Amino acid sequence: METMTAHRNPCTYVIFGATGNLSRIKLMPALYQLEAADQLSPGTRILALGRRPWNRRQCIDQMRDWITEKLKGTPDARVLDALSDRLDYFQGDLDDDGMYDRLRERLRGDSHYATNTVFYMAISPNGFSQVVDRLGSAGLLRETDGWCRVVIEKPFGYDLESARALQRAIGAHLREEQIYRIDHYLGKGTVQNVLVFRFANTMMEPLWNRNYIDHIQITHSETLGVGGRAQFYEGTGAMRDMIQSHLLQLLTLVAMEPPVSMEAEALRDEKVKVLKSIRPIPHDEVHAHAFRAQYGQGNIGNDPVVGYLQEEGVPADSATETYAALKLYVDNWRWRGVPFYLRTGKRMAAHHSLVSICFRHPPQQFFRGTQAERMRQNWILLGIQPCECLRVEITVKEPGLEMRTRQTSLDASLRTIGDSVTDAYEELLLDVIDGDRSLFLRYDEVEQAWRVIEPVLRSWAGGRDDISAYAAGSWGPAGSRRLFEKEEHRWRHSLDPEPENPPRSG
Ligand code: BG6
Repeated sequence: METMTAHRNPCTYVIFGATGNLSRIKLMPALYQLEAADQLSPGTRILALGRRPWNRRQCIDQMRDWITEKLKGTPDARVLDALSDRLDYFQGDLDDDGMYDRLRERLRGDSHYATNTVFYMAISPNGFSQVVDRLGSAGLLRETDGWCRVVIEKPFGYDLESARALQRAIGAHLREEQIYRIDHYLGKGTVQNVLVFRFANTMMEPLWNRNYIDHIQITHSETLGVGGRAQFYEGTGAMRDMIQSHLLQLLTLVAMEPPVSMEAEALRDEKVKVLKSIRPIPHDEVHAHAFRAQYGQGNIGNDPVVGYLQEEGVPADSATETYAALKLYVDNWRWRGVPFYLRTGKRMAAHHSLVSICFRHPPQQFFRGTQAERMRQNWILLGIQPCECLRVEITVKEPGLEMRTRQTSLDASLRTIGDSVTDAYEELLLDVIDGDRSLFLRYDEVEQAWRVIEPVLRSWAGGRDDISAYAAGSWGPAGSRRLFEKEEHRWRHSLDPEPENPPRSG
């Protein structure tokens, strides 16, 4: 989590899958931001590894285009030049054993490459164990002259069993301290601010429990469809892609006990405890706890878009969910009985991530017979994106002679004008160099997260009978309301104060 510009060790960042989507939209732009912020030490080099027959010049040109695209045309030429100087290209096929020997010769035979090495797996998840195995056999994972760290993108496994198999496979070559299982949500500003908000403000702690909190919602919605990722998405679906990782991670931060310190192991111990406390979903209760759907055709803004089954590369009888919602209970002293509603969807009405904490009604109605008779509940809203903010919604009296109330919010936003804007990956890429694993997942966290959703995955593997549909550009199917414990519960879609009588849809 900390940065140490002046003393940071030089290292070689080898990016497997450097010509792919992740590299284009996240990694290269993040490296640009690190360069701009002068966070990369002079000897640090980036070796982009891909199958395409590029030379170094082509790779640099491509990287410059990607960054220009991401920054909407305004990169700083001086920064781009500096980043280009660090960048090399290495053409190779991951299935080719000889490639790993060539890679070793390149890294060891050229003194420009620092001996501290990061291998970043920006590749298809089914290649993780094979690439680590081959790197290991080629002797590239040995820490003889410097450290060697491997960053594994999500999903870590496809289910509990495959996660175990992957762990066994990479564990044969790597110590746990060398493995950085990334969940980029942990690098997002508000996500880290959840911890500060909770544990640096004493006024929060007495309220943060079942006595005052009615329920908690965690929403991630996006307007994008699967785009060119149908092949990846078909084997994944919303539950594995978002809930097993990002949303459950958010849940752990909201629900965890104060850790003894902010040090990696202390933090991760507490997160694991939360995951272990989640009540297992019995097989015959999946219907009451989980909901899935696929988007049909609709409009995003003014543009008509096709439904999921019409997307290129998606089979016409696909049972892959593009929307998933889950109700969970954390059975511990703090949270027993408080429902946590998680939901995510592609092609929804808006792109945002939001944690909404709904407080209980006051125990007694003081304003009977006045306009303020129907008191509203308080909410704490943690906006993760696009608006990074923290709002406390409370009820106040309207000025005037009558006793009328309205909702207002105390804004404790994370950003103020002039604060730097970074994406999650910058921080995480630096943490790998600094050896700080607090924002990366320990294996037991991953395993426990698979345990949580395993009953749902098993039940959903049975066919596509229970898949609902929703129009692209909507807030998802109204049927997801069946998960709500109380009739008055409804999805909170935005940071704006709720209308007096919100619609019951989606
Ligand atoms: C990724 C998922 O992990 O997170 C994508 O694989 C999803 O499907 C993305 O779109 C969302 O991340 P962000 O940072 O854009 O909210």
